[in-house]
Amino acid sequence: MERVIVFDTTLRDGEQSPGASMNVAEKLRLATQLEKLGVDAIEAGFPAASPGDFEAVQAIGKKIGNSEVTALARTSKEDIDRAWAAVREAARPRLHTFIATSDIHLEHKLRMSREQVIQSAVEAVKHARRFTENVEFSAEDASRSDRDFLCRLFEAVIDAGATTVNVPDTVGYAMPDEFGELVRYIRQHTPNIHRAVMSVHCHNDLGLATANTLAGLRAGARQAEVTINGIGERAGNTSLEEVVMGLHTRRGLLDLYTGVNTREIHPTSRLVSMITGIVVQPNKAVVGANAFAHEAGIHQDGVLKNRMTYEIMEPEIVGLSANRLVLGKHSGRHAFREKLVDLGYDLSGEEINRLFEKFKELADKRKEIVDEDIEALVAEEILRVPDVYQLLYLNVVSGNLAVPTATVKLLVEGEERLGAGFGVGPIDATYNTIAKVTSTHCRLLRFSVNSITGGMDAQGEVTVRLQEDDLVALGKGADPDIITASAKAYINGLNRLEYLRRNPSLTPEERRL
Ligand code: KIV
Ligand code: ZN
Repeated sequence: MERVIVFDTTLRDGEQSPGASMNVAEKLRLATQLEKLGVDAIEAGFPAASPGDFEAVQAIGKKIGNSEVTALARTSKEDIDRAWAAVREAARPRLHTFIATSDIHLEHKLRMSREQVIQSAVEAVKHARRFTENVEFSAEDASRSDRDFLCRLFEAVIDAGATTVNVPDTVGYAMPDEFGELVRYIRQHTPNIHRAVMSVHCHNDLGLATANTLAGLRAGARQAEVTINGIGERAGNTSLEEVVMGLHTRRGLLDLYTGVNTREIHPTSRLVSMITGIVVQPNKAVVGANAFAHEAGIHQDGVLKNRMTYEIMEPEIVGLSANRLVLGKHSGRHAFREKLVDLGYDLSGEEINRLFEKFKELADKRKEIVDEDIEALVAEEILRVPDVYQLLYLNVVSGNLAVPTATVKLLVEGEERLGAGFGVGPIDATYNTIAKVTSTHCRLLRFSVNSITGGMDAQGEVTVRLQEDDLVALGKGADPDIITASAKAYINGLNRLEYLRRNPSLTPEERRL
């Protein structure tokens, strides 16, 4: 069996998903989890893009010891210098430089000839090699580029010192057979290709990113560039969990393996979803809520007789705990802490203490607390910033003959404020009143409510995205009462907006928390 290098780009390409921007603390938390997951390389960001990206790459580089930490750069010397300045303190740094190679990009975007592109790529790789021996080169839009030109370019950059050459399907245009054939062709027609690792990087515009990545690996590529939950630009990138579990489940056919600890897949998926607010679709392969749910009677019957009838992977192997029913109001701090560790969270003592208080409040309302309830508590904690606004009291009157009315009492920096207002529904009334009491004027860009578990007493989890001027922030709240959950999410969003407002030195990217 041969090993496939797993290169995770959730923090760079994944962060380019609309609305997925993360702040430095969130990026650090995710990088730590990615290392625990066992990815070989973490692409931490694009330092020349913004001071925030620079800072995040630097912080991740200082913290991560086992995985390589990679910084992206265009082929200019300035970009590469900036990328190196950010990543130089990493235990295992890598520089990743790229330039577009398709005629469409050359003509309309770069306005460069093929020879100029080769020259620019070679100079960039040589420049990067002055800093580190670990240099990756990517040919952006490779799948729409001339094959022989790609081979010439790869030969030149490998001679210049590139140790990994990456073939991106940047616009998700390729078909699996065609993409596999492209990788095979490059391998056969690039004389020095054996001196570098070949990598594939696919986008999912036609829903083929995983298929294309596996085709590339079968054709000889030995690095897969992936993101958690497949998040990324437009329709996203290849999802890590699908590739890793594809290789694992069909190892007899493919003869390839990865160093990923598959049991960390679910905790990592949940963390990404929490931090970005991007909910995983229920039928998503491997990590969707229904990925292991058997609904049809005939399937349930088969699974009860022998799981192998309808299950090709055991849920435990991707980190779904078999023992889902957990804590109740008599559970102590120790059991609670153990559960957090079991779910894969690495939290500080202070965070655990705050969560334990909230857990106790919840346990008073619900008899049984399941994993998803605890995850919702953690999500609120992770999105926490210093509280300017705190909810003290909420009373809502609503019904088919009543005018929805909300009375809200908030603690605003130590001062109690009370207000009442109307709306077209109970949530509208609540939000109008909170806006009045806080004198804020946000636009509600997104509102979603999910039931965290089944059952009549399930908690509702509300996610909002709020905008005020150029600031955008995510807010989350969970409660068995969905109006209260909605109020908590809105107030969490307001606190995050306030945090952004009070930190004007943040970059445009960071100003979208
Ligand atoms: O999709 C792409 O081409 C990229 C490169 C920068 C690797 O993300
Ligand atoms: Zn990409």
